Amino acid sequence: MTESMLAKRRSAAIAKGVGVTTQIYAERAENAEIWDVQGQRYIDFAAGIAVVNTGHRHPRVIAAAREQLEQFTHTCHQVVPYENYVALAERLNRLVPGNFAKKTVFVTTGAEAVENAVKIARAATGRSGVVAFSGAFHGRTFLGMSLTGKVAPYKMGFGPLVSDVYRVPFPIGLHGISVEQTLNALENLFKVDIEPTRVAAIIIEPVQGEGGFYPAPPELLKALREIADCYGIVLIADEIQTGFAHTGKLFAMEHHEVVADLTTMAKGLAGGLPLAAVTGRAELMDAVVPGGLGELMVVIQWRLRPPMRC
Ligand SMILES: Cc1ncc(COP(=O)(O)O)c(C=O)c1O
Repeated sequence: MTESMLAKRRSAAIAKGVGVTTQIYAERAENAEIWDVQGQRYIDFAAGIAVVNTGHRHPRVIAAAREQLEQFTHTCHQVVPYENYVALAERLNRLVPGNFAKKTVFVTTGAEAVENAVKIARAATGRSGVVAFSGAFHGRTFLGMSLTGKVAPYKMGFGPLVSDVYRVPFPIGLHGISVEQTLNALENLFKVDIEPTRVAAIIIEPVQGEGGFYPAPPELLKALREIADCYGIVLIADEIQTGFAHTGKLFAMEHHEVVADLTTMAKGLAGGLPLAAVTGRAELMDAVVPGGLGELMVVIQWRLRPPMRC
C-alpha cells in the first residue's frame, strides 16, 4: 500500500486532533533507522520524541518483553504483586538523583506520572496550589493541560481546566526573560495570588522540551530549591523527556547541584513500552494512603546480561 493511500485511510479513520508531522508510514525500524512502506530508509532523529533512547528494537528490550509475554501480561500489582515491579523500583530509587531514602510508584504514561506526583505533593503537604512555567509541557490530561504553559494546540477549547494552578515565565534570554524576572514574578505571585504556605509543589522541566529546548538556568533551579525549602514546597523535576540520557547524563538534574523531591519519568524508561514512574523522598511517597496510587500494565524489568552495572 502506498503512503498516499495510507494517508487517505488515516484521515478517514483517525480523529483530526491527532496531528502528524510527517507522511512517512513506518514499516520497520532498527536502532536509529526507519524504513517506510516503500522501502525508503530514513535516519530517525526523532526517536519517538525521546522514547527509544537506546534505539529501535534494542535486543535487550525485545528479549525482556518476549520473556515477560511468555510468563504473564497482567495480574494488577495491587491484587497480585510480582518481583519485576519491586526490582525496578529498587533500581530507580538508587539511580534517581538525591542522597536520601526514596520510593517509587509505576503508572503507564507521562501525564499520569505528573498527575500522581502532584497527588503525592498535595497529600504530603495538605496544600493545593501548584506552580508551573510558561512554555512547559506536562501532558494532555486535564491536570497535565492545566500545568502546560502553551494554549495552542494543547488547551484550545478544552476548558475549564484544573484550579489552583499558577504560572510564572520561564527564563529564556532569547525572549528577553531573565532569571531575575522569573523570580520577581514568583515573588509577585506569592503577594497577589497565593500565599507560599498554600503551595504544594513547583513543577519544572530541567530542559523544556515542547517549549523549545530551553535548559533551566542553574541559578533558577538553585533559587527554586531555596524557596521550596523555605516554605515547605515540594520541588518536582519532570524528567519525562530529559530522562534516560537524553542530555548526556541519566537524568538532566545530574547536571545541577540541586535535587528535586519528586522526579517524574516515562518515555525512555521503557524504550517504547508504556511505562512511567514517580520516584522521590520516601516520606513524601508514603503520604498517600494504600489504594490512593496504582494501576499499570506489567512492569518489564530488563533482564540485563551481563549483570546490571547500575
Ligand atoms: C516533559 C513532559 N512531561 C509530560 C509529558 C507527557 O507524557 P505522555 O505523553 O507519556 O503522557 C511529556 C510528553 O511529551 C513531556 O515531554
